[in-house]
Amino acid sequence: MPDYPVIIAKTERLTMRAMEVKDAPEVYRYRNQPDVMIFQGWTPQSADEVKAYAESMNERAIAAAGHWYQVVLDYQGIIVGDVAFCIETEHEQQAELGIAIDTQYQKLGFAQEATRGLVDYLFTTHNLHRIHVSIDPQNHASRKLIERCGFRFEGHLKKAVWFKGQWCDDLILAILREEWQQQK
Ligand SMILES: CC(C)(COP(=O)(O)OP(=O)(O)OC[C@H]1O[C@@H](n2cnc3c(N)ncnc32)[C@H](O)[C@@H]1OP(=O)(O)O)[C@@H](O)C(=O)NCCC(=O)NCCS
Repeated sequence: MPDYPVIIAKTERLTMRAMEVKDAPEVYRYRNQPDVMIFQGWTPQSADEVKAYAESMNERAIAAAGHWYQVVLDYQGIIVGDVAFCIETEHEQQAELGIAIDTQYQKLGFAQEATRGLVDYLFTTHNLHRIHVSIDPQNHASRKLIERCGFRFEGHLKKAVWFKGQWCDDLILAILREEWQQQK
């Protein structure tokens, strides 16, 4: 069991720490906002589901491949959203990244700050080689954010993801370790 809080990174305004059981009501609330859930793979059905997930994170290593690790974004004691990463099982030097910001804290630069903080953490602490993001083509805010953080567009996959009862297109954007180092 780790000692809480597990701080992943500190940015100019945010303390990025592992999601804990106590965060469950807040995470459940903003992840169920219509504009947040629309493109999200994980929409918890209850605060208890979030609690159970936080407990399960506690039982494994931070970089356990194949499991999403949720990191909440604490701004002066307020949870403004979360970022998450999942190390790939087949290639443990690669990871996928995700992000969700409470609608009332969007368009304030928190997403950019947190994404950069997470990418920096993953490349420096976990010695990753490549990080990618999977984005719905209609999620323009997400694509703008990810490109602003230096990710390259890699491809548009047609009907490649089974999402909410139908086959959906998927955009892949990625950044390599050397690309991140060049732009730092
Ligand atoms: C995708 C998502 C995280 C993007 O969040 P966001 O709030 O648009 O992104 P940022 O926090 O970086 O804010 C950027 C905007 O804030 C502005 N801004 C204001 N203050 C700023 C500051 N101090 N620093 C940087 N930007 C600032 C920027 O100019 C920018 O405006 P623009 O988009 O009009 O150009 C958000 O839309 C979201 O949570 N969506 C729902 C979940 C989701 O779809 N996640 C992605 C799944 S892949």
